[in-house]
Amino acid sequence: MNSVDNPYTPGAGTPPPELAGRESILKKAEDTIKRTKKGKAAKSFIMLGLRGVGKTVLLNRIDQIAETVGCRTAIFEADPDRTLPEILTQQLNRLLLKIDRRKRVSDEVQKAFGLLRGFASAFKVKYGEFEVGLSNEIMTGDLTIDLTDLIVAIGEAAKSRKTVAVIMIDEVQYVSERDLGPLIMSLHKISQRQLPLLFFGAGLPQLAKLAGDAKSYAERLFDYPEIDRLDEKSARAALVEPARRESVAYEDDALDVILKETDGYPFFLQVWGSHTWEVAPSSPFTSDHAKLATKRAISALDQGFFKMRLDRLTDRQQDYARAMAELIPSPATSTAVAKVLGLTVKQAAPIRDELIKKGIAYSPKRGLVSFTVPKFDEFIKRGHI
Ligand SMILES: Nc1ncnc2c1ncn2[C@@H]1O[C@H](COP(=O)(O)OP(=O)(O)OP(=O)(O)O)[C@@H](O)[C@H]1O
Ligand SMILES: [Mg+2]
Repeated sequence: MNSVDNPYTPGAGTPPPELAGRESILKKAEDTIKRTKKGKAAKSFIMLGLRGVGKTVLLNRIDQIAETVGCRTAIFEADPDRTLPEILTQQLNRLLLKIDRRKRVSDEVQKAFGLLRGFASAFKVKYGEFEVGLSNEIMTGDLTIDLTDLIVAIGEAAKSRKTVAVIMIDEVQYVSERDLGPLIMSLHKISQRQLPLLFFGAGLPQLAKLAGDAKSYAERLFDYPEIDRLDEKSARAALVEPARRESVAYEDDALDVILKETDGYPFFLQVWGSHTWEVAPSSPFTSDHAKLATKRAISALDQGFFKMRLDRLTDRQQDYARAMAELIPSPATSTAVAKVLGLTVKQAAPIRDELIKKGIAYSPKRGLVSFTVPKFDEFIKRGHI
């Protein structure tokens, strides 16, 4: 087929040609936003899911929905090498500028700007092109207190402008433990004060536990909808619909091959769809095309998507990952992995924690350890470590 017309979008955060199977989470987001806009209580939520299930795509879509109904949004990505004040400051400045469409006519907006400047100087944030004047707002230097004041001020600024401020953070699991508590505290204050400020997050599954550890009431403060692989019907739609729009069809056997290989994981569906498009000379796509595409897809993933993650691991982390892969599909318990490695549970625990910190592994249940990257065990078993 002609590559120029290939509709599939394997990538990170790239909007898919068909956002299949996500109607209910998008409806939930829309209802939450609309309730808040009407001054009704609504719960913020953090979407949890493995790598490549479409969390970033959903967060961006929610951003669009919020802007469309007149909310003001800030969206950013946490980064293990930067503190929360560093990533927040610039985006909150932009958010306030959006709230402040008519140039500082409300006292609340002015106050929030002042607090933001104080916040930035208290936490020694560098701004790049972002101009900060001196602030007469005194900050304590205690993140919990200062962030709460700032977030409350932003909520009040939004209220004064009859809008809703929506703060969105992707990869929330990279917010450090030290910063996560204050963030949760500040959002707790927002919910107590019923201010029009919502928080949507996305992250790897270990996040619910991290948040719970940071503040016990985090469990009640947020919902944690799970973003999973697509069910069969949606996975079919994700493949068939984009092709149909190009007047291209799949034979059922071809779809069966791809559904089996991808397990309905959105990123893999895009990869397989794209390769099938490239190998098939014409429509309809057959199971032979799908099988050839499978070979190419696996080889491309092994050299890119999987290898990139493997390369980030130290030797002992790779050993740990290999031991996990050997145990799967049986549940990989920390005890079993330690045994395979010939280590005590205590010796192996720090290595497991490093893998979790790097976003490669997570603990789905106490004592269990699993990969955040779907099919990473199969990759390792193909002999790549
Ligand atoms: N509902 C969907 N239907 C079909 N394809 C989708 C869907 N959602 C996402 N995708 C595709 O899946 C891929 C991964 O999406 P995205 O980057 O949003 O995942 P993610 O969960 O944020 O992954 P990561 O944890 O690695 O950041 C993209 O190529 C995107 O186009
Ligand atoms: Mg993402």
